[in-house]
Amino acid sequence: MNSSTEAQSLLAIDVYRSRRDRVLAALREAGGGVAIIPTAREVMRNRDADYPFRHDSYFYYLTGFTEPEATLVLNASADAADPAAILFCREKNVERETWEGFRYGPEGARLAFGFDAAFPIDQLDTEMPRLLADNPALHYALGSSAEFDAQVRGWLAAVRAQSRIGVKAPTKAIDLLPMLDEMRLIKDAHELEIMRRAGTISAVAHRRAMQTCRPGMHEYEIEAELLYTFRRRGAQAPAYGTIVAAGANACTLHYPAGNTIVREGDLILIDAACELDGYASDITRTFPASGRFTSAQREIYDIVLAAQYAAVDATREGVSFDAPHEAAVRVLAQGLLDTGIIDRNKFATLDDVIAERAYQRFYMHRTSHWLGMDVHDAGDYRDARAQLDDQGARAWRTLKAGMTLTIEPGLYIRAAVDVPERYANIGIRIEDDAIVTADGCELTTREVPVDADEIEALMRDAQTPDAN
Ligand code: GLY
Ligand code: MN
Ligand code: MN
Repeated sequence: MNSSTEAQSLLAIDVYRSRRDRVLAALREAGGGVAIIPTAREVMRNRDADYPFRHDSYFYYLTGFTEPEATLVLNASADAADPAAILFCREKNVERETWEGFRYGPEGARLAFGFDAAFPIDQLDTEMPRLLADNPALHYALGSSAEFDAQVRGWLAAVRAQSRIGVKAPTKAIDLLPMLDEMRLIKDAHELEIMRRAGTISAVAHRRAMQTCRPGMHEYEIEAELLYTFRRRGAQAPAYGTIVAAGANACTLHYPAGNTIVREGDLILIDAACELDGYASDITRTFPASGRFTSAQREIYDIVLAAQYAAVDATREGVSFDAPHEAAVRVLAQGLLDTGIIDRNKFATLDDVIAERAYQRFYMHRTSHWLGMDVHDAGDYRDARAQLDDQGARAWRTLKAGMTLTIEPGLYIRAAVDVPERYANIGIRIEDDAIVTADGCELTTREVPVDADEIEALMRDAQTPDAN
């Protein structure tokens, strides 16, 4: 290990330990108990081939540990002398490591990741009843997994079996996730640093896609350019299924990169981004295959771009989560009226278009979602303490510095008899990632251009793609 990676890993140990300490303090405040956080299960794809393993995000948030078959236990009822943060993980195994690679083993993991104690995962079923005995409460992701619920039932049954000798089982089971979701919603400096790097890699990948795209290519060839840059720059995987949609395919919101051949005059919508060190990025760009927008494409593009600028301007600490969406919708709805895509004879005013949600036929998703370890990250969008309004919904929550979200307006204009033909089959989305700050937001994905002229210039100058 060189000294900078050493410094980083030391820092990371402290980051994960301090998150565990926060959870333990909150559980003690709530009367104690034991929290159990398993990582994800390995899933078989087909005979002898697994899906690539991806750790559970909650588990990773509290451990930084990426091996499968591991569980974190936080014992908030432990006496000061007893371990509070306990990892269960795979034992070292020379034979298995020959086939599958390095494993930390309990002692190695305890030292490297700063747990108070660590045991082989095989001992979970014997240790858990011991940890739960005489403990007042059990905190876990209640009802999220039938298999895990069954395991918990087994541990509780083992504790209850000791009632004759006076051992008490927990009398409360409490959902742990709301507390973790609230913590995850505000990113710390360690997370933001990784998210900025993920954003940069994804932006470079989009630049490469713009520079290499030519009419005649298949969508999957453009996908390959993106995946190449993710891996070449050290990202572990795409953060979600890559969308490369040529022409009318862009009007299908979750269209996966397919076999369609890109034609002269098509727009290409790419929604693709990497996951780096457990954190997602999420970028969409839409650009002309041949390097020049047609006038109809440019009109719609500039409406979506203006909507994105309006949403970005509306994103800052202290405003409602809905404020960027409202700002985007106003611009999009006005654009739909101005172009005649929404019939001006049917709606007296812009406010009528918005009130009657006439824009939803062309803009059917929201402008933002939380972004973090998961691309659609954890955390409530509504204020759980607010009263229900007359439509049975609670108020949107208020943005705070350190929250991270996407800003991604779009317009999707399917061909139809009542739609002006020049706009038929145009699908455009522009998506960037934002960190909320006290007086605005920081966009972490703008190393790929967003203005139409700049996109055209990048494509024009693309004799050889960036060395990326
Ligand atoms: N790429 C998923 C999304 O934009 O929400
Ligand atoms: Mn998104
Ligand atoms: Mn996206």
